[in-house]
Amino acid sequence: MIDDQRRTASLLMRHLLGWDQAQLIMRSGEIITSDQRDDFFALVERRAAGEPSQYIVGHQEFFGLEFTVTPEVLIPRPETEFLVEQVISLANALQAGSASIADVGTGSGCIATAIAVNVPGARLVATDISATALEVASTNAQKHRVGDRIEFLQGDLVEPLKASSAAPFDIIATNPPYVPSSNPNLLPREVREHEPAVALFGGEDGLDNLRRLLNTAPAVLKSGGHMVIEIGYTQIEATTRLLDPAVWELIEVVNDLQVIPRTLTLRKK
Ligand SMILES: C[S@@+](CC[C@H](N)C(=O)[O-])C[C@H]1O[C@@H](n2cnc3c(N)ncnc32)[C@H](O)[C@@H]1O
Repeated sequence: MIDDQRRTASLLMRHLLGWDQAQLIMRSGEIITSDQRDDFFALVERRAAGEPSQYIVGHQEFFGLEFTVTPEVLIPRPETEFLVEQVISLANALQAGSASIADVGTGSGCIATAIAVNVPGARLVATDISATALEVASTNAQKHRVGDRIEFLQGDLVEPLKASSAAPFDIIATNPPYVPSSNPNLLPREVREHEPAVALFGGEDGLDNLRRLLNTAPAVLKSGGHMVIEIGYTQIEATTRLLDPAVWELIEVVNDLQVIPRTLTLRKK
């Protein structure tokens, strides 16, 4: 706990001073001004009131890359890195990594950008219902110099993909909102009160987006193409029950670091 508090204090101080960790250590003997001290305590108060430190400092690391985050986008989570790993290995198995890949519900753009950086031959399309999220995603793609390889489209789930010249896709990657709206208290208060509801809740049982994706994604996916999808921590059984065996084959389930089934790879028959 103390370590966490120290880490947060260090993060907020580096943000305030515009220093990196090495500078903070090397210049630790310097005395800050009283204005800087007041500004630091203001940041600490925001954090103590529950605001995620990522929104305060405006960034979060994901897959070894730094992403700009604003309160309009979900903060990228470490468990989503498993999904990116799956997609990269599927893409690399295709001809020289020249895959067409869609990221549905891109948010900060972390999935699409991490894939584009790691699969240089891939062509990507990223969608989101939120126009402000797409602006953040586009900023992040440009920051990592892959903005010219990702097309950003606004709309409902796979709907905007139908008109894309990259369709049908080899791979659809998606981390849809999957928290049950019937039980928002499952989420820590910090998440519930600060991260965007549109990025969190997936209907009464959390599975609305999954159901719709299973029905609509085949129209924009090649035969033999894959959909890699992140699910909530109690959703594996309900999810597998939803799979129509005439359409989908379950290829792999990857657990996260807490050994919770988290990433499903499906193959369209
Ligand atoms: C759980 S967040 C995932 C964000 C990002 N891909 C990540 O993994 O950090 C879900 C995203 O889906 C978007 N979204 C919610 N409903 C949607 C819909 N019907 N169609 C498209 N995107 C949607 C939200 O705006 C949000 O950015």
